[in-house]
Amino acid sequence: MLNPQLNKHGELQHLLSIEGLPKSIVNHILDTASSFVGVSDREVKKVPLMRGKSVFNLFFENSTRTRTTFEIASKRLSADVINLNISASSASKGESLLDTIDNLSAMHADMFVVRHSQSGAPYLIAKHLNDHKQHHVHVVNAGDGRHAHPTQGLLDMYTIRHYKKDFTKLTVAIVGDILHSRVARSDIHALTTLGVPEVRAIGPHTLLPGGLEQMGVRTFTNMDEGLKGVDVIIMLRLQNERMNGALLPSAQEYFKNYGLTPERLALAKPDAIVMHPGPMNRGVEIDSAVADGPQAVILPQVTFGIAVRMAVMSILAGAKE
Ligand code: CP
Repeated sequence: MLNPQLNKHGELQHLLSIEGLPKSIVNHILDTASSFVGVSDREVKKVPLMRGKSVFNLFFENSTRTRTTFEIASKRLSADVINLNISASSASKGESLLDTIDNLSAMHADMFVVRHSQSGAPYLIAKHLNDHKQHHVHVVNAGDGRHAHPTQGLLDMYTIRHYKKDFTKLTVAIVGDILHSRVARSDIHALTTLGVPEVRAIGPHTLLPGGLEQMGVRTFTNMDEGLKGVDVIIMLRLQNERMNGALLPSAQEYFKNYGLTPERLALAKPDAIVMHPGPMNRGVEIDSAVADGPQAVILPQVTFGIAVRMAVMSILAGAKE
């Protein structure tokens, strides 16, 4: 079966997931992002790579970092960016997702950046556009349900490469609510694609999905065991909005067993970095002393997100039809 993200020339047509993305494309995105990092430091921050193109931000779920950095990235690439206000749009009157897409396509959209609570929504849009021969229109998944958040995965890889240089010598721990996390899934696919030899998932049984071992991940229910000697710690938020029923006794109990405190951080390598995709719940999964401490690279992750999203959009816009 053809990879739905690639066009007939093998170029990136849509960015829907890191799963199945060739390593060469992941590295091309990271290398292109490197060339954009300096743009933010220049007096003139814009490059003309998407001049005349229209990017529609369709966020059917809340967002601070992703929506805003996509908007900044679009503007730095000189695109026109339209933020659809979903609650004030005809989606709230019952218009179907694909009818909304057809109407925005009729307004000459060139790219849709889509966040949706339903896993697979960006795939549905990409397939619809391909079926209607709209090969000049691109879809970027900005987070779909618990399935994938590929640009977060890519900006996480950019951050790790920035601080650690070589993926092939690292031990990376992902801690917390892996079960409901699209970020965890995208990070695991990206880390294994880039050759990280040891990826660990740490969390209570109830929040560790089946199938992690088959993805090449070592699982730990004891956080102290799992953190020993790691180079990178990726903390995750408890996704309360995606939980059905009681999977945990209480936030206090969770913090006692899985909260990242300075004492627990000391079990990792002395130069380990601490990451978090945000939004953070201080005192639930992470202690403020760690979140604001010298090993945290949580705010640099956000800044790198602009360059990574510029890279993804400019590569998509440059694909042949
Ligand atoms: N990391 C992330 O997706 O954050 P937002 O929900 O604020 O976009």
